[in-house]
Amino acid sequence: MSYVRLINVTKRFGMVKAVDSLNLNIERGECFSLLGPSGCGKTTTLRMVAGFEDLDEGEIHVGDRLLSSKAKNFYLPPEKRHFGMVFQAFAVWPHLSVYENVAFPLRIQRMGKAELEQRTKDALLSTNLWGVADGSPEDLSGGGKQRVALARALAINPDVMLLDEPLSSLDPHLREEMRFEIKDLQKKYGFAIIYVTHDQSEAMALSDRIMVMKSGVVQQIDSPLNIYSSPANKFVFNFIGLSNFLDVSALGNGQYTVEGSNTSLPTSLVPPREKAAPKLSLASRPSEIDFTTEGGILGTVRRKSFLGEVIDYQVDVGGQTVRVQKGRREAGPNVGEACGLHLLRPHWYGIEE
Ligand SMILES: Nc1ncnc2c1ncn2[C@@H]1O[C@H](COP(=O)(O)OP(=O)(O)O)[C@@H](O)[C@H]1O
Ligand SMILES: [Mg+2]
Repeated sequence: MSYVRLINVTKRFGMVKAVDSLNLNIERGECFSLLGPSGCGKTTTLRMVAGFEDLDEGEIHVGDRLLSSKAKNFYLPPEKRHFGMVFQAFAVWPHLSVYENVAFPLRIQRMGKAELEQRTKDALLSTNLWGVADGSPEDLSGGGKQRVALARALAINPDVMLLDEPLSSLDPHLREEMRFEIKDLQKKYGFAIIYVTHDQSEAMALSDRIMVMKSGVVQQIDSPLNIYSSPANKFVFNFIGLSNFLDVSALGNGQYTVEGSNTSLPTSLVPPREKAAPKLSLASRPSEIDFTTEGGILGTVRRKSFLGEVIDYQVDVGGQTVRVQKGRREAGPNVGEACGLHLLRPHWYGIEE
């Protein structure tokens, strides 16, 4: 049985369904990310797990403990759920030392002196804060303050860490470094992580599995690799990585043409039978397109930009634009030249998806 279980969880704010019939299973020790654009229901989901928000429908369980149930009218308060939590805002107590920031929740629990000192020291050592334990958190950088919040969460020795965009206030370099620190801490302590982010590369780098959400509704739950290489729908394809969508329409003989033009697709480029429809969206990644002299989709190079390691081409195809990215050492067409595009991994989606 999975460790954390959300069963048919729904949360409304007035007319808005922030979370809609969510079913979710998270394993012990797993790093699971909730990913999606702003307002899709990530924080609300995490707050319901934490116990800061009640449910309108459904149940949440962790192990053999029931945490929330609408039908059973049951609700365990946050302090009894025993989760570690870190949020985007730097939540440190400025009038307490770094050491006391970490020790304070343990004092509230009336933990014995020896264990309290041991746990606090361990957490401070693990987050590289032992050297500044007597100082004020106000003297630390943003990254330092987030380490204090992380140490405080570690000290309670949780089975589950709830992290809501914990790195998004940090500069990009530090953000990347702290991803690795979080992974190392997880390895050392063995807790599960539920990680909220709108940053797809962060979710990719950290997670065992990712759930992509849109308007409170789950779009896909899968490994980072599968989310990237087999997106369940157009929304997921678009949200993850760079994407091209060509609107195409059926000619009636099984072949397709680029919408609004007489640029036909190569005869080999047809959707799988179950996807066939009068109008479709043909999706591709800029990095998964080759230039070809034979049998490609015909276009004309409109722009060619040097981006460092890659060259980014914008190719006009029957009035629509397809981006292609190639290594800077590869030969490619110049602006104004005609070219053929070979899609290495075409994906077909409905227009309205
Ligand atoms: N306390 C609240 N009162 C009213 N609406 C809320 C409240 N919290 C969240 N919402 C709404 O619920 C939806 C989901 O919000 P949220 O979970 O914060 O999204 P995310 O974390 O993915 O950005 C949004 O439409 C948001 O405006
Ligand atoms: Mg949020």
